[in-house]
Amino acid sequence: MTIQWFPGHMTRARRQIQEKLKLIDIVIELLDARVPMSSRNPMIDEILLDKPRLIILNKADLADPRATDRWISFFGGHGHPCIAVDSSTGTRVDEIPGRVQEILKEKIDRMRSKGMNPRALRALIVGIPNVGKSTLINRLAGRNIAETGDRPGVTKGQQWIKVGKELELLDTPGILWPKFEDELVGYRLAMTGAIREQILNIEDIAYFAVRELVERYWDALEERFGIDEPPADLENNQEIVRVMEDIGRKRGCLMSGGRVDLEKASGIILRELRAGKLGKITLEEPDPYA
Ligand code: G4P
Repeated sequence: MTIQWFPGHMTRARRQIQEKLKLIDIVIELLDARVPMSSRNPMIDEILLDKPRLIILNKADLADPRATDRWISFFGGHGHPCIAVDSSTGTRVDEIPGRVQEILKEKIDRMRSKGMNPRALRALIVGIPNVGKSTLINRLAGRNIAETGDRPGVTKGQQWIKVGKELELLDTPGILWPKFEDELVGYRLAMTGAIREQILNIEDIAYFAVRELVERYWDALEERFGIDEPPADLENNQEIVRVMEDIGRKRGCLMSGGRVDLEKASGIILRELRAGKLGKITLEEPDPYA
């Protein structure tokens, strides 16, 4: 379910997260490793202020590992510790409690020096819809408890989920809105499946996908679909459409008269891209000057 975000929803979502911030020691900010920029809330720094934070690049199984390393360095360089995980299988998820301890080490030491027994650290997971919040909570909890709480405004009693002895998670994640103003962000989120197709036209999404793939991962397109003629000019719409048609032809998406069924071809391209069938793909690189 994709939320239709309206200003009222955004204000409410922000307020709900800010209320929860009082209860926790650290925020776990979940991003999609394939589109770390587009899956990031535009007001996140303003919302979280100086609350300690661990950034997690989720769905790292689908992302280009070299780009993921660059993103980890980028966030690290901006003072935000960051790790990449795959919540669907649990790869590297077990590093999260240790990283939280590291980030909050000073606080723990302070408690100890005052003679207090450090209590379990409390964390809130936040992120845009579909980034994998529920999957990660379930993975950390080791059982199936988190709801996909995609409806802004739904409040429930606060419950804590124990993750080992030293960490507790709020059972409901904080849901954030993405950066809608930028059309490219919308298309990138649609390409990765975070925004459902009903909102944008499927052929338009596939067009953007093919254009980005031609630019960054032509080899993957060539190998997966058996096509062999890259467009000479990326700015020429007809050439991108021609690549889509080539893919459609290879996959037998033909209508009467031999014309390529572009809608069908678009469905195939997006399904296979999202499922990782084209290999590990990242659509955004960090801007070293940002
Ligand atoms: P949310 O709470 O943030 O809204 O996201 P949720 O956990 O519901 O995850 C959204 C989709 O992303 C789910 O797929 C989930 O399985 C998938 N997912 C989450 N983390 C990872 C990951 O690290 N790697 C991969 N490859 N996928 C991940 P779905 O198709 O919507 O549901 P389902 O097929 O799992 O039932």
